[in-house]
Amino acid sequence: MANSPCMHQFLDPPDIRKEKRLIWAATRSVFENVGFAHKRSGKKSRSHWNLFIRLLGVFAFLLKITGYYHNGYANAKTIHVNEISLKFPNLPAAFNGFRILHLSDLHIDSIPGFASLIIHKIKDLKFDICLLTGDYRRDISGSFSRILKPVMILSKYIQAHYGTFAVLGNHDTYLMAQYERESGMQLLINESVEIIKDGQKLLITGTDDPFNFFTEPALLCLGTRGYDFKIAMVHTSELAGVASENKYDLYLCGHTHGGQICLKEGMPLISHQFEGKQYNQGTWRVGNMTGFTSKGAGVSGLPVRFNCQAEVTLINLVI
Ligand SMILES: [Fe+2]
Repeated sequence: MANSPCMHQFLDPPDIRKEKRLIWAATRSVFENVGFAHKRSGKKSRSHWNLFIRLLGVFAFLLKITGYYHNGYANAKTIHVNEISLKFPNLPAAFNGFRILHLSDLHIDSIPGFASLIIHKIKDLKFDICLLTGDYRRDISGSFSRILKPVMILSKYIQAHYGTFAVLGNHDTYLMAQYERESGMQLLINESVEIIKDGQKLLITGTDDPFNFFTEPALLCLGTRGYDFKIAMVHTSELAGVASENKYDLYLCGHTHGGQICLKEGMPLISHQFEGKQYNQGTWRVGNMTGFTSKGAGVSGLPVRFNCQAEVTLINLVI
């Protein structure tokens, strides 16, 4: 995931970025280490999570005795390349035809050899930038170094001229920030970067995960003004209203896995989001802003999918 330094520029100078990053890491390390979850609406109970994990065990048992587990596992290994074009009349002309590879919810260690399956899908794709919207590992705790090797293998196949930028999800750890160079992903943690093409600019803002780790800087960074075209990257759709109010044009997120296990396409048993079913997967609108929720490449909980195909997404921006 090679980044070309001349093609992008962070809004904050290096010393300010470093200082902000230290404050953020201190805060999030406390959240992670004491199991404290915080949403914009306040402290969040984790009791439903414990119940969910117990129910998963029962569900896995039922799938195995009925013979469906094998099919679901095969489904989870079948990744679709979803190519979409999104139209924006205000897109700077230099970015007409700009292609984004959007990857979300890799959960790269949920299935052995999963990095190779993603590589097989993306190695021949042409894109200008790669944006990742969180959830790189299976578990919600433990070290990041455990998945560093498959991430590094994947990174060799992501050669985006304008760089590779990533936000964290609720499965991720602040310790990822120590491995930016090795992983090839430049993290956007409550900050923005300008992408520069033929003298024109667009802005990309990435926030920390608001599902479990919301803090005020996530809102502040979405207040950046003065650009013709702005993209927000957030793990969940929870900040879509804020981004729309602040005149963002495109909002990319994941988290839901499209449900991962659906009764039929688009009808999930559980989506782990409470903002409305329109945010479960695909494109949606809030005000003048277009949003897109990826169904994710990987799986969490159980390594199965039903009626909900995994995806990597190629987004073509057009005027
Ligand atoms: Fe996820």
